[in-house]
Amino acid sequence: MDKKFTMLKNKAIIIGITGGIAAFKTAELVRALTKRGASVHVVMTKNAMEFVTPLTFQTISGNPVAHEMFQLFSGSKIGHIVLSDIADQMVIVPATANIIGKIANGIADDFLTTMAMATTVPVLFVPSMNTKMWESKMVQANLQKLKDAGYESMEPGSGDLACGTSGRGRLPTIEEILEKMEDIFTDKDLVNERILVTAGPTMEFIDPVRCITNRSSGKMGYAVAKIARRRGAEVILITGKTYLPPPRTDMEIIEVTTAWEMRDAVMEHYKPCTIIIKAAAVADFRCKNENCQKIKKKGDSSSISLELEKNPDILAELGKVKENRILIGFAAETENVFDHAIEKLKKKHLDLIIANNVAQSGIGFGSDNNEVTIIDKSGSMKHVPILSKDEIANIILDSVKKVLKKRKVVEDDWY
Ligand code: PMT
Repeated sequence: MDKKFTMLKNKAIIIGITGGIAAFKTAELVRALTKRGASVHVVMTKNAMEFVTPLTFQTISGNPVAHEMFQLFSGSKIGHIVLSDIADQMVIVPATANIIGKIANGIADDFLTTMAMATTVPVLFVPSMNTKMWESKMVQANLQKLKDAGYESMEPGSGDLACGTSGRGRLPTIEEILEKMEDIFTDKDLVNERILVTAGPTMEFIDPVRCITNRSSGKMGYAVAKIARRRGAEVILITGKTYLPPPRTDMEIIEVTTAWEMRDAVMEHYKPCTIIIKAAAVADFRCKNENCQKIKKKGDSSSISLELEKNPDILAELGKVKENRILIGFAAETENVFDHAIEKLKKKHLDLIIANNVAQSGIGFGSDNNEVTIIDKSGSMKHVPILSKDEIANIILDSVKKVLKKRKVVEDDWY
């Protein structure tokens, strides 16, 4: 099973497939869902079967595929139980203009439309169609009707389309669909918070081709940003150069290169934020004199000296101006992990510090997993064993919630 932290585990998901060219991509979604531990039940329209076969989906999901209105599930695991009774979420992918129009206008003339209207669980539409159809007044009006009636929907992506044109109408990526499904299952307990997250490495140039940087991949910070958004916070992510796709499309993302650029972006954006989480690995030093031309090897000289000067300490600067914002730092240590972390917590006026041992293999830099100790101002420590970075992010945000709760109690006592 996929090790990612997921709300989809043990959930029953109905996947409705309609007749669009993107129908073949749904196979990948079904596979990803089963990998995450969901049980998947596929329902296909007649038009969908012109593009893909029920056999494919039966094989991947391990469950019979429903496609006829009066089909019996004799001998199957679900027997006579109506699919919508066992479901936790229904996703229509791809959702054509036709299915959007039918359900928006109350037409229930096949298994899929009947079920989408009969079910009481969340129903998500994932549209994919030609740009002009997507932009048509009818499709947009029907989508609005669906939203007003409480159905969920995603925006299609942009790019080359099967009809030979280019524009909006592509099926969102499988990762984006999975994230939206996770989002639907997640409690929005950070809905009133605006969180600034920093992630990734900074890069300090020596000359136009060389730089000083570090091994941060951005995964830890991206996980914090994604899970915070999933839990309802508004998120602004300030990131050094990474090779990662954006964690979500519905957050502000600012890309920076150097420590100074990160400092300027943070100082420009921190004010409206209630919580700041600094997972970025900021270079402590930069070259004093950056060469504007590539440094050449000189004669037989076997060494070269670089003069370095200190970069701004962004977290320390924030510590001085934080007021009642919650400020969280990470401590990347290789020895005396807790002593160094506590020193940073005190010196930089933090509410929490997340200590990780970056000398340990399988966690920290570049890894999908981490092992951390969350330390608060009173010195109390919570050890979190090796887990995916998504799960670690979730636990860090639980600790942030505790700080918020404590503050509320103090405020309530005061009045
Ligand atoms: O990106 P990944 O590959 O997923 O790896 C994750 C991680 C190991 C980078 C992450 O878990 C982590 O530990 N991030 C902090 C790295 C770091 O710079 O630690 P530090 O102990 O040197 O700095 C302490 C804190 O001060 C950090 O919050 C850092 O963002 C901040 N800092 C440091 C120096 C500086 N000039 N300005 C800062 O704001």
